[in-house]
Amino acid sequence: MGDPLYEQAETLPALRQVVDAAGPYLDTLPERLVYDRAAEPLLGELSGPLPDQGAGTKAAVETLLRVGTATATASAGPRFYHFVIGGSTPAALAADWIVSLLDQNAFVRASSRFADAVETVTLDWLRELVGLPRGWGGALTASATFANLTGLALATHWWAERYGVDVAAAGLAGLPRMPVLSGGYVHPSARKALQMLGHGKDTIEVFTSDGIGRIDLAGVRRRLAELGGAPAVLIGTAGEPNAGEFDPLCELADVAAESGAWLHVDGAFGLFAALSPRTAHLTAGVERADSIAADAHKWLNVPYESGFALVREPERLGPAFGMPGAAYLPGPDDPRGGYGLLGPESSRRARALPIWASLAAYGRTGYRELVERHCDLAAHLAAVVDAAPDLERLAEVPLNVVCFRYRPADLAEPELDHVNRRLGELLLDDGRVFAGTTVYRGRAALRPAISNWRTTAADLDLLVDVVRELGARAAREG
Ligand SMILES: Cc1ncc(COP(=O)(O)O)c(C=O)c1O
Repeated sequence: MGDPLYEQAETLPALRQVVDAAGPYLDTLPERLVYDRAAEPLLGELSGPLPDQGAGTKAAVETLLRVGTATATASAGPRFYHFVIGGSTPAALAADWIVSLLDQNAFVRASSRFADAVETVTLDWLRELVGLPRGWGGALTASATFANLTGLALATHWWAERYGVDVAAAGLAGLPRMPVLSGGYVHPSARKALQMLGHGKDTIEVFTSDGIGRIDLAGVRRRLAELGGAPAVLIGTAGEPNAGEFDPLCELADVAAESGAWLHVDGAFGLFAALSPRTAHLTAGVERADSIAADAHKWLNVPYESGFALVREPERLGPAFGMPGAAYLPGPDDPRGGYGLLGPESSRRARALPIWASLAAYGRTGYRELVERHCDLAAHLAAVVDAAPDLERLAEVPLNVVCFRYRPADLAEPELDHVNRRLGELLLDDGRVFAGTTVYRGRAALRPAISNWRTTAADLDLLVDVVRELGARAAREG
C-alpha cells in the first residue's frame, strides 16, 4: 500500500465500515461499561513502529474501530457523570460526519463561504437561545478554556486602551499589572487563560465570604475603591462544577457598572440555565456582561471542540485576533475575511455544523425540555440520596449537579474523606457508572453532573446502588 491516490475506491467501503460499527456501538451505549478495564490490552494493537508500508484504508479503519469501540470511555452514554460532559445528539453526530465529509477550512470566507454562513447563523442562534439582545456577536472556539481566553483577551485590549496602548501591537511591557477580581467559584480554565495571555494564573484576586467560594461583593467593592478608578476586570461564574452554584450576576454587574470595570462571565455549562423559566433567574444579569464564555459540547450535547464566546461589542474581536497581513491572506476588512480573524484560531474545522444541526433539529423547545428534564433528574437523585441512610447530601441543587458523600453511621469524620476518595477510585475502576470526587466545604465528596441527553432516572438509581455497594467496600477495606 502506498499513496492514498491509489486507495480512492476504498473511501465508501471505509465509511460503510464505520456505519456498520456505529449501529451496534450506539445500541449498546446505554448498557455498556463506561470504562472496561479488561479491554485495555487491546490498546497495544495501536502502537509499534511507524509503518513503512501502510496496511491500507480497510485494515487501518478496521483496527481503529475494533480497538476504539472496545476501549473508548463511553462518555457519550448515559452513565458518565464525571466533570460536566454531554453526549452528541443524533443530529449533531450526523452533522459531525458531514464536517469530515466536506472537510472545510472555516478560517475565512476565501476558504469556505459555506462554513462562514453556517457559523454566522449558529452564533446568532446561540445568542438568541440564551436570551442576549441583538448586536452581540462572538466566536466559536475549541473549548470554554478558549472562550475564556477570548473574553479575557478582549478585556486585556480594553484595559490597555485605557492606558493609551494597543496591546495587539505593543504587548504588555510597560503597563501595570491588570487587576482581575473574582469570587471563589472561578474556574481553573480562567486562570489558564490569564496565564496564556501573559497576566499570570496567580494574579486573580479572589474574594470569598465562606468555605464554599461564594463571592464577597463588599470585598470586591473595597478593592475597586482602593484601585481608585484604575480599570479592572471582574470574572463571574455562572455554574461551578462542584454543586452548580452561581455568582450573583446582577449584583456583580452593578459593581462593574459602578466602577466601570469589564465583566467577563464564565457560563461553560450554567449559561444554559437561561433556557428554562424555572432556572433563568440564575443567569439574570448575564446580559449586562461584556463577554461570556460557554461550551456547546456540554449541555447542548454536540461533539467536542464546540466552545463559544459571546461579546457585547463584536467589533473588538478583529483588533484583538486579526493576523498581521501576509500577501496571500485576506486582511481584516476584506470581504474574503472571516471568523479565523475574529478568534484565537486560524485554520479550523467547520465546528458550527453540529451546533446548527442540533439547534435546527430540536429547537428552543427541545433544548428547554432537555434542561428541565436534567434538572428534574438531579432533583430525583437528590431525593434518592436524602432517603439513603448511608449517604449525605452536602449542597442544595440549583441546577444539574448533586454534591454528596458516602456516610455510614459507624464511620467517624476523620475516616470519611479517605473512604470517599477511595470510593471515587473504585467507581472509576468499576466502570458501571462514572463519577469523580471533589472537595466541598473541606470534605471529599462525589459531584455527579447530569448533562447527557440519554440519561434516565434508572441510570441514576444505578449510580446510587453502585455508590452504596462500593462505599461499603471502601469502608471495609479501610
Ligand atoms: C465553569 C467552567 N468553565 C470552564 C470549563 C472548561 O471547559 P473546557 O474543558 O471546554 O475548556 C469548565 C469545564 O467543566 C467549567 O465547568
